[in-house]
Amino acid sequence: MTVRTTTGADAHRGFLGTALHTPVRGRVELLRDVLIAVDGGGTITGIHPEASAEGRDLAQRLALAGRLTTLESGRYLLPGLLDLHVHAPQWPQLGTALDLPLEEWLQRYTFPLEAKCADPAYAETIYESLVAALLANGTTTAMYYGSIHLPATQRLADICLRRGQRALIGRTAMDQPGACPPYYRDASAAIGAAETKAFLDYVGELPGNGGRLIRPVITPRFIPACSDELLRLLGALARETGCHVQTHCSESDWEHAHVIERCGRSDTLALESVGLLGRHTILAHGNFIGGGDIERLVATGAGIAHCPLSNVYFSDAIFPLRQALSRGLHVGLGTDIAGGASPSILENARHAVIASRRLEAGVDPALPRAQRGRVDSRIDALTAFWLATAGGAIALDLPVGVFATGRQFDALALAPDAPGSNLRLGIDEAPEALLERIVYGAARANVADVWVGGRHVHSIQQRN
Ligand code: GUN
Ligand code: FE
Repeated sequence: MTVRTTTGADAHRGFLGTALHTPVRGRVELLRDVLIAVDGGGTITGIHPEASAEGRDLAQRLALAGRLTTLESGRYLLPGLLDLHVHAPQWPQLGTALDLPLEEWLQRYTFPLEAKCADPAYAETIYESLVAALLANGTTTAMYYGSIHLPATQRLADICLRRGQRALIGRTAMDQPGACPPYYRDASAAIGAAETKAFLDYVGELPGNGGRLIRPVITPRFIPACSDELLRLLGALARETGCHVQTHCSESDWEHAHVIERCGRSDTLALESVGLLGRHTILAHGNFIGGGDIERLVATGAGIAHCPLSNVYFSDAIFPLRQALSRGLHVGLGTDIAGGASPSILENARHAVIASRRLEAGVDPALPRAQRGRVDSRIDALTAFWLATAGGAIALDLPVGVFATGRQFDALALAPDAPGSNLRLGIDEAPEALLERIVYGAARANVADVWVGGRHVHSIQQRN
């Protein structure tokens, strides 16, 4: 009998270049000229200085095996970006229909648009375009809402798996007759829960998903759209399966007040009472959460998807991000497509900084300076980048977001000199300044290549 041993080099890939990341909130680390070794499962097995004996030897062996990727000079490896809040069926609406408050926007524009996903062929076309666009923007992990339709949401899972994007996906559940139109709601709570379970089972058995690149998410749209019974059934499913949960929370005055009136408590506490709050829960927005809510969120380990761009249109308030972070809340960033009009998490990172500055300074010139804002509210660009990468990964409880042994190699190659670039990077600039410039100036045009779990999933040369 022949026993075939696999040498390290056979199973590995290697990435040679200079990497920039934020392993600690507010701090940047530059890994200059390193070899990042990645095993066949996409996990980083070591980071070696290129000039070390080990680095040189491994790079040579990988190069001989044709398994070494060398970054072009001047480019930087960054951790892939995480988008914690995307509505896939709203992609055709990007950049339009932002003239109405949330409750009217849903009825007038959004429910009719999402209802079109009853046709899986239509859904497939828009989902292909969305996933390609997010990858091109450097988003290696996305947490998606589908529509209420099981077949369309199954197609989204298929597409993410085939294209290689790490994705957490939920079939949206909503059954409350007063809040959801007859043409776009679950016929009963039992049906909403059963279809949710069917989607969990579908992803659990998806061929080729052994590495759990795709994970299912229990997705009650938000409390106003769900009956008490549906919330209870989904809470039971969450406890039983340990799956991720996503919903909207304390987003606008209307939504926050509606839940307090109906449930006698805030979204956070109402969700906890039915078992929907846990380590794998992501709440979108949370603009109006109070002290008691933050305490429960921290205690359960749930996270917030901060969506600074969408909040401009629907929340009429700014999420107190710095306060949330200093109390130990898990926070990542979300585009909230199409409540937010940009598919770029870098754009949302910029807006997170800007929103925090607005909150600190205040905006009404009729008020005296001292009364205008809220002290100690600003975050800096490095914190914004951390939210877009490591912070989002912590919130989702996924081993991505930084370059370290044991993490998945989810990364993008940033090309400062790409055609159409607005970036101006100095050669010997301090890492802090480099990253600050990237946060303020980088865009899709600078995302040259994207990898997820070591697999090359996007190149700037691709048309989609
Ligand atoms: N609340 C309930 N549904 C939605 C939605 O689709 N977008 C946003 N921003 N908030 C919501
Ligand atoms: Fe949303």
